[in-house]
Amino acid sequence: MNHRIRKAVFPVAGLGTRFLPATKTVPKEMLPIIDRPLIQYAVDEAIEAGCDTLVFVTNRYKHAVADYFDKAYELEQKLEQAGKLEQLELIRNVLPKGVRAVFVTQAEALGLGHAVLCAKPVIGDEPFAVLLPDDVIWNRGPGALSQMADVAERSGASVLATQSVSREKTSSYGIVAVESFDERQGRVTSIVEKPAPEEAPSTLAVVGRYVLSPRIFPLLEATRPGAGGEIQLTDAISALLTEQEVLAYRFRGTRFDCGTHLGLIEATIRYALDHEKLSEAASRLMQNALDELGVVDAD
Ligand code: G1P
Repeated sequence: MNHRIRKAVFPVAGLGTRFLPATKTVPKEMLPIIDRPLIQYAVDEAIEAGCDTLVFVTNRYKHAVADYFDKAYELEQKLEQAGKLEQLELIRNVLPKGVRAVFVTQAEALGLGHAVLCAKPVIGDEPFAVLLPDDVIWNRGPGALSQMADVAERSGASVLATQSVSREKTSSYGIVAVESFDERQGRVTSIVEKPAPEEAPSTLAVVGRYVLSPRIFPLLEATRPGAGGEIQLTDAISALLTEQEVLAYRFRGTRFDCGTHLGLIEATIRYALDHEKLSEAASRLMQNALDELGVVDAD
């Protein structure tokens, strides 16, 4: 499959219960880091990697995601009339020219593997990306997916983004066993969804970026419910690696788990401190807050 990926799948049908009550009406993918919703960070990363077809797997409660990527005629007109051209550019570039958004519904929440399978009619027979918008990956250089797309294009293999986690965290991730690991990549020999720490084959965890061969679709169709009673993408990848090469790739960048309170806070701090206009003021605010609240370093 030695060609560049063009299509990216964004599973956005989850309930986001960790962020209730906010997620009672706002999908978790629309929670912002500063002024951009989580989904925009993932979309920008996919576009930077060369994708021009974005497939959102949603459910009937996620109109806000579709509305967000739709053209906002009235708002555009008002901004134009008011001469607010910078803001006009911002909302126009939510989806740049030449990039199309396709929405597919996942009628029942049957798991991540099932969500990816829902995108099959749009993807067809070519390698594609999956991005989980909860995982935000910050990097000053090329984005994580762009790095992975390079590896996939060169090797013809499927590629999973991975990072090391502490052993007690293995039960929150897909965990891979890998052989012949060089500095950044190695061949996956097994993968298991959310193993208990004592059963995990390693501490190398899959995070929410995948480049997958279309062979994954028939394997997903044959996948029975696994961990948590859900159709797991991990289980189909486990079947895939008996047929084709799957690589684990240790990306350059820092990943924030924005599906948790602390992850979202950490990401907000990082993006604020790296923001060209907000950086100085944000660091002062943080220092003041620490001083006023008497928060001291636990060490
Ligand atoms: C999903 C995958 C898991 C992966 C994780 C990365 O789990 O099933 O294999 O390690 O994303 O964020 P979830 O976090 O949706 O439970």
